[in-house]
Amino acid sequence: MQYFIDSASIEEIKEAISLGVLDGVTTNPSLVSKTGRPFNEVAKEICHLVQGPVSLEVVGTTAEEMLREAKQLRTYGSNVVVKIPMLSEGLKAVKALSAEGIPTNVTLIFQPVQALLAAKAGATYVSPFIGRLDDIGQDGLLLVRDIIQIYRQYSFKTKVLAASVRHPIHVLECAKMGVDVVTLPVKVVHQLTKHPLTDSGLKTFLEDWKKVKN
Ligand code: E4P
Repeated sequence: MQYFIDSASIEEIKEAISLGVLDGVTTNPSLVSKTGRPFNEVAKEICHLVQGPVSLEVVGTTAEEMLREAKQLRTYGSNVVVKIPMLSEGLKAVKALSAEGIPTNVTLIFQPVQALLAAKAGATYVSPFIGRLDDIGQDGLLLVRDIIQIYRQYSFKTKVLAASVRHPIHVLECAKMGVDVVTLPVKVVHQLTKHPLTDSGLKTFLEDWKKVKN
């Protein structure tokens, strides 16, 4: 399973790189807006910093606008994955980009048949949003499970990129299901390293070490 960081913050991305487990980055317009910086500046910096795939999202709502933006986004780096919202127009854009060999990530997936359509259009990744479904009382992990079952059934090559991940249990369940990629907010990256028994165990070891004659 690959780990992407879901962030547009250069500090957070650098922090994730320093942990040595970062495979790529996903961003969205809300994450970019939080940085307070111009989009093209942030996008170029991230693409330069990260070796793996970087998902940058289009904001146009017609296929024509999306394709125009995709062309611009790809100038920021050869690792740019064009992130496209799950719309009929989006599917048209995915089909055209996939024919040109340009990688895409279809985002805002909330039901399995959306993921089926994205795969048929030739998407490289699909992003089911787990946490946002949980927030409205639906089972986000069930969505991921259904997508994996459908993709396996028809041997689709599209990768499942679990998004809107809120806590380590989401990550654990995704790993058990064989999800290809999880994209994590930096907070969850840190949560994954923690256990209270690790902290108390280390405290005891270090205290006992002081009693050892060296
Ligand atoms: C995915 O690529 C999105 O950027 C992201 O995971 C959305 O997460 P949120 O529901 O925490 O905003």
